[in-house]
Amino acid sequence: MTLVTDLTSRKADTTAQLIDPLVDRWSPRAFDPNAVVDAETLRTILEAARWAPSANNSQPWRFIVARRGTPAFTTAHDAMLGFNQAWADSAAALVLNIAETADADGKPRPWARYDLGQAVAHLTVQAQHEGLHTHQMGGFDAAALHAAFDLADNLEVVSITTIGVLGDVDALPEALRERESAPRLRKPLSELVLVGE
Ligand SMILES: Cc1cc2nc3c(=O)[nH]c(=O)nc-3n(C[C@H](O)[C@H](O)[C@H](O)COP(=O)(O)O)c2cc1C
Repeated sequence: MTLVTDLTSRKADTTAQLIDPLVDRWSPRAFDPNAVVDAETLRTILEAARWAPSANNSQPWRFIVARRGTPAFTTAHDAMLGFNQAWADSAAALVLNIAETADADGKPRPWARYDLGQAVAHLTVQAQHEGLHTHQMGGFDAAALHAAFDLADNLEVVSITTIGVLGDVDALPEALRERESAPRLRKPLSELVLVGE
């Protein structure tokens, strides 16, 4: 069994000193299929999302939290593209990240997806701090999930976050195994900062 023991190689090769959860975070596909995330830890990482900033403090984020082995987990897993189904079944929990795109009067919330993304970023960093790993995905049938969970018209499932404990890379299909050790690349800051030093 080859566990991902060389975690150093997955650390971000940063050009400035960052806080540990940001350096250590990466998106694995090999999760331990037996690991369980306790309710208190799940609550803690959702609390991190809760305290994210948002436009006019509208907090337009909603979540469906599904632990492995529950009907909600199966529903979410069934809606994933085959590529994602192949690895996400081992995650301890899935969080469906949902944007409230309009208020109760139907007035659009133009920043809803932006705010949701920021809340998910908080969740991700807190999960890393708790010793967990996360892997977000956009490859799923959002309309199917909207229907399956009977969501209101002003709610949109934007992404899914898998949460779990690192697992055995060898248990992955070969094509996915290679990705697990591929170099982690980023554009240089000089390309990202359009104006400014
Ligand atoms: C909105 C979003 C959608 C993504 N969709 C998928 C996906 O469908 N399948 C997948 O395996 N990874 C998906 N990813 C993971 C990205 O590929 C990953 O974050 C990126 O390659 C950077 O790698 P890192 O997170 O390890 O730094 C997604 C990430 C985000 C933020």
